[in-house]
Amino acid sequence: MTDPLIDPFLRPITYLRLSVTDRCDFRCVYCMSEVMNFLPKKELLTLEELDRLSSAFIGLGVRKLRITGGEPLVRRGIMSYFESMSRHLKSGALDELTLTTNGSQLSKYAQELAGYGVKRINVSLDTLNEEKFAEVTRWGRLNQVLEGIEAALNAGLKVKLNTVALKGFNENELFTLTEFCAARDMDLTFIEVMPMGDIGELERIGQFWSLEELRSTLATKYTLADLPDRTGGPARYVRIGETRQRVGFITPLSHNFCESCNRVRVTCTGEIYTCLGQEGKSDLRAPLRASEGDEGLLHAIREAIALKPKGHDFDYSRQKLGGQMTRHMSHTGG
Ligand code: GTP
Ligand code: 5AD
Ligand code: SF4
Repeated sequence: MTDPLIDPFLRPITYLRLSVTDRCDFRCVYCMSEVMNFLPKKELLTLEELDRLSSAFIGLGVRKLRITGGEPLVRRGIMSYFESMSRHLKSGALDELTLTTNGSQLSKYAQELAGYGVKRINVSLDTLNEEKFAEVTRWGRLNQVLEGIEAALNAGLKVKLNTVALKGFNENELFTLTEFCAARDMDLTFIEVMPMGDIGELERIGQFWSLEELRSTLATKYTLADLPDRTGGPARYVRIGETRQRVGFITPLSHNFCESCNRVRVTCTGEIYTCLGQEGKSDLRAPLRASEGDEGLLHAIREAIALKPKGHDFDYSRQKLGGQMTRHMSHTGG
């Protein structure tokens, strides 16, 4: 029996977020700048390496594996990775295999994902208005995502919507989005926009819509009851009395949740980031490639986790001083 992964602040690491590509078929304005240089293919971990790496983490006690991107479903051959990972669900070594997706490819893949043991997925959607959707994603077609969501529901997947709260953009859709989810028995999670990545001319401070404010607005129409439920992620949930649905709030800025952090992120090039909001990283690709055995890799993972910081360092006041984080969300998969 190997020792579980415990960080210096005694937090057990049981959740791995693995990015399988930095590419995306959309270009959300708060996530990427209009022109993004994507990594050359040879930099990426191969599907076999992704498998070996994931399996190593599972061997070290990871119970929840979330595949991210960019958009994970645009990675060529990714279904064979899911198929292979399903062995860890079957053996009981893994509790949850899941993904965060923009929904554009779900019509094609939802059924297959369900077949590989995926039960619950998170779909990013910030607006239900066609023009606004094209604006925020720069060219996305809303219908493609709505069809993807229906395909996922039809395949028996639980779907949670992730909505980034953007002042002056989707403030007026709070109730529409809530009703959309209530009608489909879907959870809905709002996310505070985080100051990550150089996104060009866009001003982030003006975009910030505190979820405390959003929650108060929601409470003008509905009765909200705090829930103890956690999904292993950072959201805190309420149940709406009138519709019985769950609504989550991810509030890294207004209410940081680092004390209960259980996760690390690995990029598609095999870099491990032990905190989304810090620049600290270590390389796992070299030890992965150095030997067919996993000893060096396991050692490198433990060494990286021994350096996990106490918490993130997001602060809009730093952005005013030109100090925002240059890493893009698509690089670490959110
Ligand atoms: P559940 O399993 O449904 O709880 O998912 P999740 O919230 O862990 O994952 P998802 O990919 O849906 O992430 C939603 C948002 O939470 C994204 O914007 C992530 O960047 C953000 N997020 C996830 N983990 C962290 C974290 O450790 N710190 C911060 N600041 N944000 C996080
Ligand atoms: N702040 C908050 N959330 C973001 N996402 C992408 N960029 C940001 C940002 N700067 C969200 C996406 C997706 C999730 C993985 O991260 O909308 O739901
Ligand atoms: Fe793509 Fe998601 Fe970033 Fe939008 S937020 S550009 S869908 S990775």
